[in-house]
Amino acid sequence: MNQLQDKTALSHRPDATRCVHSRRSALYVPANNHRAMQKAATLACDAIIFDLEDAIGPDDKPSARKAIKDWFGAGRPPHMACIIRINALSSAWGMDDLEMAAACAPDAILLPKIETPSDIRTVQKALDDLNAAAHTRLWAMIETPRGLVNCQHIADTGMEAGGRLDCLIVGTNDLAKETGVDLSDGRQLVTSWLMQIILAARAAGLDVLDGVYNNFRDLDGYRSECETGRSMGFDGKTLIHPLQIDTANATFGASAEALADASAIVAAFALPQNSGKGVIQMDGKMVERLHLEQAEKLLAKAALQQKSVTSI
Ligand code: COA
Ligand code: MG
Repeated sequence: MNQLQDKTALSHRPDATRCVHSRRSALYVPANNHRAMQKAATLACDAIIFDLEDAIGPDDKPSARKAIKDWFGAGRPPHMACIIRINALSSAWGMDDLEMAAACAPDAILLPKIETPSDIRTVQKALDDLNAAAHTRLWAMIETPRGLVNCQHIADTGMEAGGRLDCLIVGTNDLAKETGVDLSDGRQLVTSWLMQIILAARAAGLDVLDGVYNNFRDLDGYRSECETGRSMGFDGKTLIHPLQIDTANATFGASAEALADASAIVAAFALPQNSGKGVIQMDGKMVERLHLEQAEKLLAKAALQQKSVTSI
């Protein structure tokens, strides 16, 4: 388990056995770009995703695979989650990618263009057959029309016995390509689809990350998209360039004010006179135990982010 996840049991949810993660910023790194791969380990993103799929041309797949193997072989950094995006198992490269990825024992393997629950189960079975590390989770990209309409069933595989799925990622570029929707004027037209993916993830207790912002020099437009994504409920954003990391960390991380409020709620419920109470008032506002649960989760995530900063 890397430092950005923690088995922090939320004290008021007896069923809360899932890990708390910090996934504000997940940077794609093309696995044929040696310089970017070396640089990635020094960056402040919460996760790096080595890409074998869209960013790598057919001729470069074998050498990119080897580059990832060598990178993990040299020792992974402890302060970020290390993920490998493979090609679809149905492609000519998928099985070789999966074998290599399983041998690297990354924190997760990211599966592109997931369309049905059986896409997930097939990979899980293959990972079990390969004796993949138990800590290696699956992340799934929802980026096709069929993946979108099936996303609740896909997300639910995370709750099955032995299920490895724990995060969904929105693939906005592919969604635009496959549906014909025009994103040149912003994301208003696809907002309902994105909310559907967030809802499916939440219903299954999964994290969910927003798609990439292609114009990495347009930092104002990028910030605005991060802020909207945060309001929609995403846990973080997938990124393509190091310039995008700080804004994602700031936007999807907790503000000092939010942390102070969370600490005050935890402290208030810890007072002897409030023990056993379901609801209290603080400064004229109703505060329930569900707010305590939210506050505890926020503080747990913030503690992980603090650890990641001090370890860089
Ligand atoms: N990860 C790590 N480092 C990266 C990086 C990334 N994704 N993108 C750029 N860098 C590094 C460069 O290596 C360069 O490092 P240096 O200054 O030490 O030489 C520095 O950041 C500045 O890079 P810059 O010149 O601004 O960009 P570029 O022209 O080299 O690359 C892209 C631009 C878009 C091609 C590149 O950012 C990229 O490949 N992004 C990821 C694409 C991807 O994976 N797509 C698939 C998923 S959507
Ligand atoms: Mg894609």
